[in-house]
Amino acid sequence: MAKSIIALISSPRKNGNSTLLAQKIADGAKAAGARVETVNLHKMNIKTCTACDKCHTVDDKFCVIKDDMQKLYEKIIAADGIIYASPIYWFTVSAQLKLFMDRCYALGGPSGYALKGKKMAVALTYGDNDAFRSGAVNALRTLQDAFAYVEAPLVGSVYGTGLEPGDILKNKAVMKEAFELGKALAG
Ligand SMILES: Cc1cc2nc3c(=O)[nH]c(=O)nc-3n(C[C@H](O)[C@H](O)[C@H](O)COP(=O)(O)O)c2cc1C
Repeated sequence: MAKSIIALISSPRKNGNSTLLAQKIADGAKAAGARVETVNLHKMNIKTCTACDKCHTVDDKFCVIKDDMQKLYEKIIAADGIIYASPIYWFTVSAQLKLFMDRCYALGGPSGYALKGKKMAVALTYGDNDAFRSGAVNALRTLQDAFAYVEAPLVGSVYGTGLEPGDILKNKAVMKEAFELGKALAG
């Protein structure tokens, strides 16, 4: 059966660099036979986690906040792989992506997370021309730790410099890398 992949876009910009990179990963995954659905977190109503802990402490209680995460939980649970795409904002992932990550707390508990075993891929873009100075390494470390905690394998990450929308397209090597990552994600 075809693998099902969700691409989480978190840039607020049209033709954002991180979105273009994620689309290239998606192209690679589709070329390898996967179905890919793109979700734009910026356009969704996702509230902050309130740490009520009902998702972890009350039997059969899922997240009590009734917003767009409810639809997204179903998609995430059904997916075989997830692409996390983010611009670097203040030396880490965007707030849009972080809101989503916090709310994934409801997808599990001490006995494990529904994200377990899903194949993960990351696409990051930044204005600085150095991955360390930009904060991209910091963001990648955050995502690596989160994926390790929920026992989801990180298939690979692609990242590069691009200040204005579309700048990342000039970096042919990273676009090619993104396509190959998509193929691996679908494998
Ligand atoms: C609020 C804000 C914060 C930013 N912080 C950083 C930063 O910490 N490091 C960096 O290298 N670039 C930073 N940038 C530049 C963006 O990361 C860069 O333009 C990136 O390509 C945006 O991705 P996008 O086109 O997908 O939106 C920032 C931009 C904005 C708007």
